[in-house]
Amino acid sequence: MDRNIRTVDDVLALLDDLFAPEADRWTRRGAAWWDTFYTDRSRPVPFFVPKPDESLVSYVDRGVLTGGRALELGCGPGRNALFLAERGFEVDAVDLSPAALDWARERARETGARGVRFHCGDAFALTASELRGPYDLVYDSGCFHHLPPHRRISYLALLERVLAPGGHFALTCFAAGAMGSKLDDAEYYKGTGLQGGLAYSDEALRGIFANLTEVELRRMVRQGEDSDRFGEDFLWTGLFRRESDTVS
Ligand SMILES: C[S@@+](CC[C@H](N)C(=O)[O-])C[C@H]1O[C@@H](n2cnc3c(N)ncnc32)[C@H](O)[C@@H]1O
Repeated sequence: MDRNIRTVDDVLALLDDLFAPEADRWTRRGAAWWDTFYTDRSRPVPFFVPKPDESLVSYVDRGVLTGGRALELGCGPGRNALFLAERGFEVDAVDLSPAALDWARERARETGARGVRFHCGDAFALTASELRGPYDLVYDSGCFHHLPPHRRISYLALLERVLAPGGHFALTCFAAGAMGSKLDDAEYYKGTGLQGGLAYSDEALRGIFANLTEVELRRMVRQGEDSDRFGEDFLWTGLFRRESDTVS
């Protein structure tokens, strides 16, 4: 007879287990699943291209983001982390998958990029000494929509902990109606699995990140093959600013 629940973390872990084995995709155990995903680098996966998000480039080019310390959550093979480093940011980039980080480090060597520290692990479980905030930018391209609803609690807690007052949070995620699963939050706890990732409406994103100020929330602009940027119109791209000491 188990009577082990004492903390919010215990409840979150219990809810993760409802999704087993799929939970491996967002917990510490996820390295194996994502390593397999990254094994064949020649697969036509949109975000395998070595190009930064068009939205991120535009924030930097327009001077909305002006440098400082950045944290990328779920950096994968590092295309956005490397761009930020190239533009003078000091970057911490986190991913569950050693294979993704091997690829990212190779790209860093090839491009001569400096200024990125790669961390392997669960972004929501790394300690304060591993992720030394405060960060002027927390960036997420495609990690948030792979999390189950209850892990938004961990996500907002991480922002609360590491995002500097006056700092920015930016994300890209599946746009409802274009990509991703549109079930209500509660439905995912009835055995459906995450169905490839959760779709979000713009209003849902505004609600979840309500304690941040919206700077820009729009659909990403699809980029052609000849573009030096990544862009898919099935994604939202959002930029928010932390005004005070309160995030969640
Ligand atoms: C869809 S991929 C996006 C990769 C990268 N951001 C890009 O756009 O090129 C999502 C990534 O999030 C990572 N991920 C998922 N859950 C994570 C967690 N809890 N902590 C750190 N990384 C995580 C996965 O390993 C995967 O590489």
